[in-house]
Amino acid sequence: MKILYYTSTGNNLFIAKQFGGDLISIPQLVKDNEFDIADDTVGIIFPVFFATSPKLIREFVEKVNIRTDYLFLITSYGRDGDQNALRIMKETFNKRGITVNYTNSVLMVDNFLPVFDMAEEIELKKDLNIIGEIEKINNDVLAKREYILDKELFTDVENIEVVLENTMCEKYRIQVGKDCSGCEVCTKVCPRGNIELTGEKPSFGDTCDFCLGCVHHCKTHTLTINDEANPDERYRNPNIKLSEIIKSNRQTI
Ligand SMILES: Cc1cc2nc3c(=O)[nH]c(=O)nc-3n(C[C@H](O)[C@H](O)[C@H](O)COP(=O)(O)O)c2cc1C
Repeated sequence: MKILYYTSTGNNLFIAKQFGGDLISIPQLVKDNEFDIADDTVGIIFPVFFATSPKLIREFVEKVNIRTDYLFLITSYGRDGDQNALRIMKETFNKRGITVNYTNSVLMVDNFLPVFDMAEEIELKKDLNIIGEIEKINNDVLAKREYILDKELFTDVENIEVVLENTMCEKYRIQVGKDCSGCEVCTKVCPRGNIELTGEKPSFGDTCDFCLGCVHHCKTHTLTINDEANPDERYRNPNIKLSEIIKSNRQTI
């Protein structure tokens, strides 16, 4: 079994690790220009961004060749849009002649800083039985159960994910404060290799996924988002180490 995953704050790596199998970071596959995947079972585990998947994942899904008897998609999300994200990915695969056998989602801490006070969000989600949810999904996958929940959550606005992504990325900006220590964690956790240190301060290119990994993992909290509720509160899945995020995402040498 091959488990392909994308993570910025560790939730999806945590899910991915529960399945056993070979863990493969999608940003590393993209970096290595590796778009051929074959195994008897293949899973793709990713976060919901703006009711769809992150840009890098959408680009990957347009290109990757997957040869398998059983392809499953799992998304983690904080509020809603999970079924929208799964439906879009499933349709992209279908158009490319690749069958998706199973989809499901796991509710976890929402890491979208501009909207949530992280301390309140972590408190709100503290009693979720996440391990239990993943165990159920894992049993389905082991039994190669065929299951597609195909509910469309957002029917009132056409292409809601495009509208959301454009308006949110326009509205919220990552800001660099004065306390940067030049530790380069931001450059190492960026799955796009979109950040470099110039004059000892991070500067951003134009391929940002808005995953917010740079902001969440910034040691001095010098990276912030305009209008965010509480710039002192940051999130990393408590079971995942910073070194694991770096290993997953690092594009620089
Ligand atoms: C840019 C961005 C957009 C997001 N959009 C949504 C969304 O539309 N719906 C939702 O339920 N959660 C949304 N989230 C929350 C993440 O999907 C959720 O926290 C996920 O578990 C994070 O996974 P990770 O820790 O592996 O990065 C968003 C997070 C980010 C950073």
